Amino acid sequence: IEITWSYEDAQKSGFKHFMLKEIFEEPMCLVSVMTGRIKNGKVHFEELEGLKERLKNINFVKVVACGTSYHAALSFKYFLENLSDVNVDAEISSEFRYKRQHLKPNDVVIAISQSGETADTLESVRLAKRQGATVVAITNVVGSTLSRESDFTLYLNAGPEISVAATKSYVSQITLLYLLALKIMEIKGIWDEKHEGLIDRLLRMPEIFEKFLDQVDNIHQIAAKYKDFKHFMYIGRGYGYPTALEGALKLKEISYIHATAYPAGELKHGPIAMLGPDFPVFAVAPNDFLFSKTKSNIIECRSRKARIVLLTNEGNEEAFELADDVIFVSNSIDELYPILMTPAIQLFAYYVADELGLDPDKPRNLAKSVTVE
Ligand code: AGP
Repeated sequence: IEITWSYEDAQKSGFKHFMLKEIFEEPMCLVSVMTGRIKNGKVHFEELEGLKERLKNINFVKVVACGTSYHAALSFKYFLENLSDVNVDAEISSEFRYKRQHLKPNDVVIAISQSGETADTLESVRLAKRQGATVVAITNVVGSTLSRESDFTLYLNAGPEISVAATKSYVSQITLLYLLALKIMEIKGIWDEKHEGLIDRLLRMPEIFEKFLDQVDNIHQIAAKYKDFKHFMYIGRGYGYPTALEGALKLKEISYIHATAYPAGELKHGPIAMLGPDFPVFAVAPNDFLFSKTKSNIIECRSRKARIVLLTNEGNEEAFELADDVIFVSNSIDELYPILMTPAIQLFAYYVADELGLDPDKPRNLAKSVTVE
């Protein structure tokens, strides 16, 4: 017998690339990250028993991370700040480590790193610990340096992520951070029906992802139309903003198309000057409480003749009037769109790269973990 496939092909389980395989693993990752952490409508983190007292009166959390992990940190910031009285300062590790910090022994620092080996994040953790802060690590790799050097570790349990572009780990990070935020709120005594509703909806998320992933052809077709553009502007407001940042990062890292991301409200402060027929806009705009604002921004972009790809939710009747192309996700509540919309931005970037004949698993000049500065 002649075996015509390689060991690597076998590992891809029939998918053309690891990146696509890992996006399709997201429903499973959602299950893994929640397993054992939700009981009777409440969040449980046995790993954090020793931190409970500290969390009772907490009103400030610092988060450090790089790249995609930093975008997960930003989603956490919007979530916890919108639902509680806790301020969240999310900072890029390479900035945090080189400026004066004023942490106090009661402060909690959350360090997020898929690999647990990112040099800047590790140095940030060391700095935070020297100032006496308590560090909670969020990582995917058991026994990683980050987990060993932190006081507490929460694992993503997403399984190995081979593709350089982070995909499934990002979905797991946001979900885990939401659970952590809910736990903090419960410990602080901020708890109502809305939080239980959120947990119910999180539990239904794997099924919603499965359904979404059945319709990848639409995203593939849209990506094929936009593959030859040299620039892309991602915009979003509120919960949509971290998703816009992550969408632009995914597109540039694997397709080498120049992509930039802005809070939609910033357009008029400069970036809109770049837009025109050769500079399309990818708008992350669920029909949430900010939609009317983002809609005005989209109209402004159109008046500059920019083509619009709109990522929104089903039932948004204005979608086709506003945009040239539309990607719909299930209808949900504002807080959950950062999770729900993630596979859409990842698949869009993936299909653009694939249409351009690039290998999204091994983008030029990039390594899976950045262990040096
Ligand atoms: C994402 O697709 C990247 N390749 C990159 O930004 C990555 O998220 C960043 O280097 C941080 O890695 P970490 O989560 O392992 O610390």
